[in-house]
Amino acid sequence: MTTIMPEKPLGVALIGTGFMGKCHALAWRNVAAVFGGAHPRLELLCDTPQDKARAFAAQFGFARATADWQEAVRDPAVDVLSITVPNGLHRPIAEAALAAGKHLWLEKPMALTLADARAMARLASRHPRQVTILGYNYTRAPAFQAAVEMLRQGVIGTPRSFRGVYDEDYSADPDLPWHWRMTHAGGGLGALGDLGCHLVSQMLQLMGDVEDLSAITQIAIPERRAPDGMKPVENEDSALAMIRFKSGAQGSFATSRVARGRKCRLQWEVHGSDGSIVFDQENMNELWVHRAGEAGFTRHLTGPEQPDFSAFCPAPGHNFGFNEQKVIEARDLCRAIAGGPACGPDFAEGLKIERIIHAMAASEGRTIRLEDFENDQTA
Ligand SMILES: NC(=O)c1ccc[n+]([C@@H]2O[C@H](COP(=O)([O-])OP(=O)(O)OC[C@H]3O[C@@H](n4cnc5c(N)ncnc54)[C@H](O)[C@@H]3O)[C@@H](O)[C@H]2O)c1
Repeated sequence: MTTIMPEKPLGVALIGTGFMGKCHALAWRNVAAVFGGAHPRLELLCDTPQDKARAFAAQFGFARATADWQEAVRDPAVDVLSITVPNGLHRPIAEAALAAGKHLWLEKPMALTLADARAMARLASRHPRQVTILGYNYTRAPAFQAAVEMLRQGVIGTPRSFRGVYDEDYSADPDLPWHWRMTHAGGGLGALGDLGCHLVSQMLQLMGDVEDLSAITQIAIPERRAPDGMKPVENEDSALAMIRFKSGAQGSFATSRVARGRKCRLQWEVHGSDGSIVFDQENMNELWVHRAGEAGFTRHLTGPEQPDFSAFCPAPGHNFGFNEQKVIEARDLCRAIAGGPACGPDFAEGLKIERIIHAMAASEGRTIRLEDFENDQTA
């Protein structure tokens, strides 16, 4: 298969150098080495303060540094922006970048509120030549892609039921200090915005659109220590939902940031009329598949028969990692900019994900028909 990739180097600006900033930097440095095309020009790195930006520009290999994201948006040498800053900055930077004619790679969740996400999707629709992609990296894992392909080929028949969980324990310690992620203004939603949205991104590809849902949420640790005293936790530590898909299939959905012992338990199973598929991100190089008549599940290991695995490594069982998912995401973005297939989730598809997680946060046990859900509240 010929892969369309940019023939001329794309000028890149990266905003933010934390967990995701480094992940994007690694992807930009490796995308052409793995998938071909012109190597991107790493033009400008932005973080605050300026000396931090300068230090990370040197470490990540960017030519210049700034502490002002507006400079990155205006820079004529920049074609595409990687936005890896706290959620509250997503909308202002994304809107300014769209207005300035840039392509965008924005970390999830899209925005703090559903109203913000809707405004961003509307603006992006007025700039159809600019590519947008959201950081739903778990959908790029070769094992996940293999599962989607198995469903497409009918390996387990008609999907009837989805059971999905995304649990971590990064907030389980009650002595963990208060953080911006725990506020409506800084983080938006809690576990749903941080973790649940990833599970939704996979669920939509596996099961199709959602008809209706009902959910309950919980704030397990209502106050946290801050330098100026105790402060309230404003968004949910965990959520549970029941889902009906447009296909008629049903789903259960759970997410928590306070699930002791769980580190990246993005785990789901799909039960079909003729079999089942099981995946767990903590063992992201394997799928477990059962077909009717077999005694149990068979382990399918990732390997070079999966095209995005073979781009990295010719040998099966040699394992694929978290950061490599981001290189595939960068490939999808570069390919779309070069005129290849559209990449996603773009802002329009991202809005679907936001509508689901915000409906879960607002449900309080009520059934919400998704097409009717226009709630613009923060949570
Ligand atoms: N896709 C994933 O798997 C995944 C994983 C973790 C985080 N995220 C998302 O990535 C985003 C960032 O999260 P993180 O964990 O990397 O956070 P982080 O705190 O590690 O990094 C945030 C970075 O933004 C910088 N920053 C803050 N304000 C800035 C400003 N005004 N101008 C320039 N830089 C500024 C900080 O200095 C820091 O370098 C969030 O939206 C989060 O939801 C995605």
